[in-house]
Amino acid sequence: MDRLSSAAFRCSGRGGGGGGGGGGGGGSCLYALCLLFCLCFSAAGVAAQTASVVIVHPRPDNRPPPPVYSSNPTKGVLDSSLYYPGDAQCLMAAIKKFATAVVVRDRTKAATLLRLVFHDCMTTGGGCEASILTDREINNAVNADLKRVVPDIHSIRDKAGRACGVLPTLADTIARAAAAAVTFTGLNDVVSVGFDLGRRDLAPNEPGNEPTTLPNENQSLDAILSLFATFGLTDKESTVWSIGGHSIGVADCIHFSSRLSNESTRPGCLQPADPTLDPGLACKLARHCSINKDIRLPFDFRTPFSLDTSYFQLLLKHQGLLRTDQAFAVHPRTSAFITQYATSPGLFSGDFLKAFVKVSLFNVNSAQTAPPTKYYYP
Ligand code: HEM
Repeated sequence: MDRLSSAAFRCSGRGGGGGGGGGGGGGSCLYALCLLFCLCFSAAGVAAQTASVVIVHPRPDNRPPPPVYSSNPTKGVLDSSLYYPGDAQCLMAAIKKFATAVVVRDRTKAATLLRLVFHDCMTTGGGCEASILTDREINNAVNADLKRVVPDIHSIRDKAGRACGVLPTLADTIARAAAAAVTFTGLNDVVSVGFDLGRRDLAPNEPGNEPTTLPNENQSLDAILSLFATFGLTDKESTVWSIGGHSIGVADCIHFSSRLSNESTRPGCLQPADPTLDPGLACKLARHCSINKDIRLPFDFRTPFSLDTSYFQLLLKHQGLLRTDQAFAVHPRTSAFITQYATSPGLFSGDFLKAFVKVSLFNVNSAQTAPPTKYYYP
C-alpha cells in the first residue's frame, strides 16, 4: 500500500528505470533453452515485480551521489544545494500529502501545525531551522501544546523520505506541513505565491533559542508590533499574520480569564473586567471556564476550522478572545486593516499567504545551521 502510494511521488530525472534491466536477459535465455512456457511466464513475472520495486524505492547505489552542499549559504535565502530539483519536487508533494493525512485524521492539528512554524521561525535570534524541536524550546511552557504534533512531524518526514528516496530537513518538513495545514483550512497552496524548500536544520551542537521572546497576551500591541518589525513585518503584515493565525485554533482559559468578571457565572452575568470584551461573550466564556478550567476554547467560535475573515468580523464586534487580538481592532496602527480584511476575503487570503512565505524564510540557513548529514533514505 505504502509502496503503491509512494510511486506517485517518484522523482523525475532519477536512475530508477535502469535498475530493472539485469533480470530480463536471464529470462529469455531460459526461454530459448527449455521452451517451458510456464517457467518463462513466472520468470517474467518476477522480473517485472523486481523492476517495479526498484522504480518505487531506488537503491542508494543506483542513485546519483548526494549533492555538493553549498559551503557558505546565504542567511535568509533558501539553499538550493540541499536537494536535486526532482527530489525537491517530490518532497513538496509528499510532505503535503502526509501532513494532509494527519489533519484529516484530526482537524484540530491544523492550527497546531500552523502555530508550530510560527514558534519555530519567530524566536528572537532564531529562524526557520527546526529549533522548535530542541529540548530548550519544546519543553518550555509556552510550547506545551505544540508537543502533540512533534511525533507527526517526524512521521511525515519519514514517510516523505521513503516515498521520495531522500530525507527532507526537519525545518522544511515543519514549514511544508504548516503550509499543507493552511491549504486544508481553506486557502490556496503557498507554492502559488513562491513557497519553496531549502532550509538547513539547526546544527546538532546548538541549544535552540529563547522561547520567551515570543509575544504574549499581556504585552502591549505596540511592543508586539515592534517585535514583529524586527523580523521585517509591517503593521499590515503583522495584522494579517496574527489575526489570520487566530482565525483557527483554541486557547486555554488562563490566557483570557483575567478579562472576565469573577462573578459572571451567576445568573444575569456581570460586566466583564475588560470593557473591550463583549459582555455576552464574556458571560459564555466564564461559564465554560468555570465548569472546566482546563477547557480550550476557540478564538473564532463561528468558523474555528477555517482560515478566513470571520475572526476579523468578530473583532469588530468586540468578540476577540485575547486582549491583544482585540487591541488590533482599536489601535490606530492596525484598526483600518482589521476593517479592510473583515470585508475582503480575497485580499485576506492573498496577504496571509504572502505573510506565510515571508515568515517561512526568516533567518533560514544562518551560521547556526548545518547541511544534512544523511541525504538518502534510509
Ligand atoms: C500577536 C501576538 C500573539 C499572541 C500574544 C499569541 C498568543 C497565543 C496564545 C496565548 C495562544 C493559546 C495557547 C494555548 O492555550 O496553549 C495562541 C494560540 C495560537 N496562535 Fe497565537 N499569538 C500571537 C500571534 C500568533 C501568530 C502570528 C500566529 C500565526 C500563525 C498565531 C497562531 C496561533 C494558532 C494557530 C493558535 C492555536 C493553536 C492550537 O489550536 O493548537 N499566533 N496564541
